Amino acid sequence: MDSHCTVTFLPSDRQTVVRTGTLLHDAAWQAGIEADIPCGGQGRCGRCLVRIEKGQVRRRPNAHLTDGQVALGWALSCQTEVRGDVTVFLLPETVTEKVVVSGTATIEGPRSVRPPGDPVISQYPLDLSPPDLQDSAADLERLRRALATGPGVRDLQVDLSVARGLGRALREQKWRATAVVEHPSRGRSARLVAVRPANAVGASLGAAVDIGTTTVSVVLVDLQSGRIIDTATSFNRQVSCGEDVISRIIYSLRGDGLRRLQRLVRETINNLIGELCARHELEARQIDHVVVAGNTSMEHLFLGLDPRSIREEPYAPLATSFPTVSASEVGLRVNPEASVYCTPAVAAYVGGDITAGILSSGLDEWDGLALFMDVGTNGELVVGNSDWQVACACSAGPAFEGAGVRCGMRAITGAVEDVTINYQTLAPTLGVIGGGAPAGICGSGMIATLGEMFVTGILDKAGRINTAIERGQGNDRRRIVATDHGPAYVLAWASESGTKEDILLTEVDIGNLIRAKAAIYAGLTVMLRALDIDLKDIETVLIGGAFGQHINVEKSILIGLLPDLPWDRFRFLGNTAALGAYQVLVSRQARRQVEEIAGKVTYLELVADNSFMNEFTSALFLPHTDLEAFASVKEVLAQVSRNDAQAAAAEERKGR
Ligand code: FES
Repeated sequence: MDSHCTVTFLPSDRQTVVRTGTLLHDAAWQAGIEADIPCGGQGRCGRCLVRIEKGQVRRRPNAHLTDGQVALGWALSCQTEVRGDVTVFLLPETVTEKVVVSGTATIEGPRSVRPPGDPVISQYPLDLSPPDLQDSAADLERLRRALATGPGVRDLQVDLSVARGLGRALREQKWRATAVVEHPSRGRSARLVAVRPANAVGASLGAAVDIGTTTVSVVLVDLQSGRIIDTATSFNRQVSCGEDVISRIIYSLRGDGLRRLQRLVRETINNLIGELCARHELEARQIDHVVVAGNTSMEHLFLGLDPRSIREEPYAPLATSFPTVSASEVGLRVNPEASVYCTPAVAAYVGGDITAGILSSGLDEWDGLALFMDVGTNGELVVGNSDWQVACACSAGPAFEGAGVRCGMRAITGAVEDVTINYQTLAPTLGVIGGGAPAGICGSGMIATLGEMFVTGILDKAGRINTAIERGQGNDRRRIVATDHGPAYVLAWASESGTKEDILLTEVDIGNLIRAKAAIYAGLTVMLRALDIDLKDIETVLIGGAFGQHINVEKSILIGLLPDLPWDRFRFLGNTAALGAYQVLVSRQARRQVEEIAGKVTYLELVADNSFMNEFTSALFLPHTDLEAFASVKEVLAQVSRNDAQAAAAEERKGR
């Protein structure tokens, strides 16, 4: 017979009863605590530390903990089984913040989004004659007849749940109502989505959802006009089950891991929808259509599809085009009859976020040669024009999105987004989103900090901090300090920061950022070589994803993240996945177009190219081992050393 134990979690003092042998991480979940397991519970990262205050546990063998740490009670929550009543202390930083962090942002597109007469959802005002003895046609037939003779909607599909409420709705509204109809697409007939009171015209809403590995964005849209009402973004709550796609896939293989991941992303989306609707005093049940764009793994997890084959050679996913489902099937708290469409993927690592991104960037209609870059937790690159497109993907990791970097955060109020460092004093001048005290550093801030540290000599080309640098010695406090993650550069002292802790970038953070930028640049080099394309022939670089809003081109080139091309060739397009999902939400033509894109893009598998590792290693320097490929950076560095030499000579003259 199973025995059970009580697990108490501190400091919240939450309790739960579990079977003996349950992992501490699962017990925390059962107690309603989303304790983070960054590597998906593989015992690989050593970051799910908890402290056993009292009680009996069994630790699975693991090299991450020393005997001394074990003696002090430390354990890994993903590798420790409950063996009796236990009290466990959870470190605050290992528990995912459940509050939705949201912010509004506008999304803009380079072209108009809906040709006239092509909506996915239409609303038709109905003024039906009530049944009498001369015309006793059924309510549903009466409605079909009106839609066929009026707006010409034929073969209307009516699901049972909509039909159930029809009789009462029509009678209560005295036969005047608004029919919400989804127009036919890909073999589906027109479908009745809702019957609403006559005065509800203009109240049909849509939601375009971008499911990123790290963040999720929802765009709320008035489907009548196509107007964007508002957007909101938050962390993907799945982050607590693994920071990257592979960790999530591994997590999905545990017990009810897949269901848990599906629930977490669903809750993330529902919370965002709820927040947007509350902000505008709208009802979530007015949302009649949802379009989701995400990478292939995210779309699988959202639909509850088994993603395991995505990480196994030959990397064939379960699906690249997905069945359209109803909102009730996937648990979205909107009109239960709303159809939910996922944009099609190309391959395991080029997903629906990229097909949506190609659509919104206009790459598929470009005349000259263009490069589309979507840099998020994964870096996807697409090169081509209106005739052809080739895509590849490289795993950049979540560093530029603020995860895995000690003071990293998303680009919201309080994030350092720009940095300039004084060459003599080494003191920084910070640009902070919202203008207040800094609370952390977002991706653009990290790029700027790296670039400035490099040109001021704080950082060498291998990414090591120069702890012996003499400039800046005269300041009250040295900007270069020692931390448990190695040397670090302080951007803001605790007394100046919104968190009351130093805002700094450590050498470990810098290593993560350099690996991320190296993966992206190596992917680009290998892809262009495979296609026999010279970098300088790329006329336009379209940038979407996490970097799409704003990054400093000069500093991105300085660190070797972006190729060394004239600055006017770069265009920043914002969140291209959300924008593409929005276009598909409001236009059937855009939906056809995104499906054509998915069928047309050729996928280039970088794993099959032996040169990728060599290119990656070469790119692990600032800006690159091949300085000739970064002529503008070479010139900047030469100018810096000329200035240095002149300053030294002047000093010497003064001394004589
Ligand atoms: S070691 Fe436990 S989550 Fe990575």
